Amino acid sequence: MSGGLHPNPLRLGVNIDHVATIRNARGGDHPDPVRAAQIVAQCGGDGITAHLREDRRHIRDEDLARIQAATDLPLNLEMAATDEMLAIALRHKPHAACIVPERREERTTEGGLDAAGQHNRLAPIVSRLGDAGIRVSLFIAPDPRQLDAALRLGVPVVEFHTGEYAHAEGDQVAAELKRIADMAALAAKNGIEPHAGHGLTYENVQPIAAIPQLAELNIGHYLIGEAIFVGLESAVTRMRGLMDDAR
Ligand code: PXP
Repeated sequence: MSGGLHPNPLRLGVNIDHVATIRNARGGDHPDPVRAAQIVAQCGGDGITAHLREDRRHIRDEDLARIQAATDLPLNLEMAATDEMLAIALRHKPHAACIVPERREERTTEGGLDAAGQHNRLAPIVSRLGDAGIRVSLFIAPDPRQLDAALRLGVPVVEFHTGEYAHAEGDQVAAELKRIADMAALAAKNGIEPHAGHGLTYENVQPIAAIPQLAELNIGHYLIGEAIFVGLESAVTRMRGLMDDAR
């Protein structure tokens, strides 16, 4: 069932960055992330997420317009809080922009944004994006201090980083899950729509999907990896089914 028809819908945003990672490994046009976006649209995905990194290691500038032209699914642009990315976001006007921390040497987005420590840098970017009609989200750790900073910045959405949960072992799993559940409830109570993502797999998605306040999960690396073996449609369909069953 698509997220939109469910009584308590949980949208699935599919991050297609790593289709572009494979494409870029050979420098040509194949595999094309646009084709991935079209498949996601056909098989129950609710949105496309793409991170235009400063070093353009996967998604490239021209991919954004191509993705927007090829599908009606909302595009969620993950972006660093820089003037360059702000200008690109304002030019492309994606449905949503998720501000993420970015360090050139990291392999992936390793932690949440320090929204508390960077208030003054984030405030003008959040307001310029919001004024352009872009739904702004901050990718933060499930931490009350960061949620409080997000509230002060006036964003409509936060995305909780689930990396600590995904990597937790033993008793830590329940502790991390509780942190996310508590923060999702607190966000919703304060009028912020909570999303979550990072490191989610078939094995660990269901306890997160069961958190009733969460409105969207963004999942990438695992789905694209699975797609190598079973195809993207199967991988997305199975993830969608696990999410719906957990709801
Ligand atoms: N959400 C955000 C904000 C991200 O930056 C990423 C990718 O790093 C994801 C979700 C998806 O994470 P993953 O690729 O581990 O599923």
